[in-house]
Amino acid sequence: MKGLILSGGKGTRMRPITHTAAKQLLPVANKPILYYGVEALIDAGIKEIGIIISPETGEDVKGCVGNGDRWGIRVEYILQAEPAGLAHAVKTAQDFLGDDPFVMYLGDNLIKDGVGPLVERFQKGSADAFILLKEVENPSSFGVAVLDEKGGIVVLEEKPAQPKSNLALVGVYLFNKEIHKAISLIKPSRRGELEITDAIQKLIDIGHKVDSHILRSWWLDTGKKDDMLEANRVVLDEMVDVNIAGSIDEGSRVSGRVAIGKGTQLKNCTVRGPAVIGEDCILENSYVGPFTSIGDRARVSFAEIEHCILREDCKITDFHGRIADSLIGVNVELTRGDNRPVAYRLMLGDDSKVEVV
Ligand code: DAU
Repeated sequence: MKGLILSGGKGTRMRPITHTAAKQLLPVANKPILYYGVEALIDAGIKEIGIIISPETGEDVKGCVGNGDRWGIRVEYILQAEPAGLAHAVKTAQDFLGDDPFVMYLGDNLIKDGVGPLVERFQKGSADAFILLKEVENPSSFGVAVLDEKGGIVVLEEKPAQPKSNLALVGVYLFNKEIHKAISLIKPSRRGELEITDAIQKLIDIGHKVDSHILRSWWLDTGKKDDMLEANRVVLDEMVDVNIAGSIDEGSRVSGRVAIGKGTQLKNCTVRGPAVIGEDCILENSYVGPFTSIGDRARVSFAEIEHCILREDCKITDFHGRIADSLIGVNVELTRGDNRPVAYRLMLGDDSKVEVV
């Protein structure tokens, strides 16, 4: 069994953050989203992973994930020249995949329960493809499946305007070699992409068996800012253990599940978990509230920060205000000229400089 992680695409829904970074490398609880997928595949016993990359962000992805040595696996990169669709990505990876069965994992997706049990179920069963489904409130943003009373798939549609069910396709799929034939038989969709949803529908149409499973645990597609914050909230809520490597002065208070990286100093601060603060940060006279992640080397003073993702090297200094529900890129500088109470909700791309006067 091989793994194929899709980390190409243009990430247009996350601009301006994705002007300078691949969306799959954005951090959730201070760890790139992509790592969650890689680790889920490794936990399922997969030792060969292909990662689809784009010309724009491919080098960053390579730099971040490396050749797999750190996990004792092999990682190969496959360049997809254009984001021409998920099925096109599979087609591009055909040399890497050969005739082997594989798990395809969308690099911007997170699921709570790993993929190990699904791999086992697929290997023991007789289906040619296996899809995961989840009930959602906004099915028209996803691939949608209609099932019959016995749970068999009746039809699959990609982002239908009038969805016939509330079951969305989750971004984790298991396939055997039959998918390549189905892909060769489909045409680009209305939005000009070779859709994996259409390829799976084609598999069914030409008489192959496709199994499905409805997820009960959480699944997050981190396509937009609020999805990222929600992913950060859910992961911090479930995964952070108390781990204080940095230093906390006598005037500071830390409560709940909080991780503070080495070299970080807290001076006269209050931190309420769940929260994670990276390495070599300096936080002074500030409050860090629940569901906040702060990247390495941040500088924060006179600020209240809650339910936020701050990336590495941010400087929020002399702020005298509250920042909530915000996603702030690498090396952003944010400062304020007066100290009347305020609150901000922000999405700031890397290297932004904001001075509120
Ligand atoms: O998240 C689940 C949904 O993912 C499914 O319900 C949909 O059926 C499926 O089409 C897909 O929809 P999205 O619109 O969310 O896909 P997106 O364009 O965001 O791409 C998903 C990942 O695949 C993302 O990490 C970028 C990468 N990608 C995307 C395209 C179009 C590639 O590597 N190559 C591509 O050509």
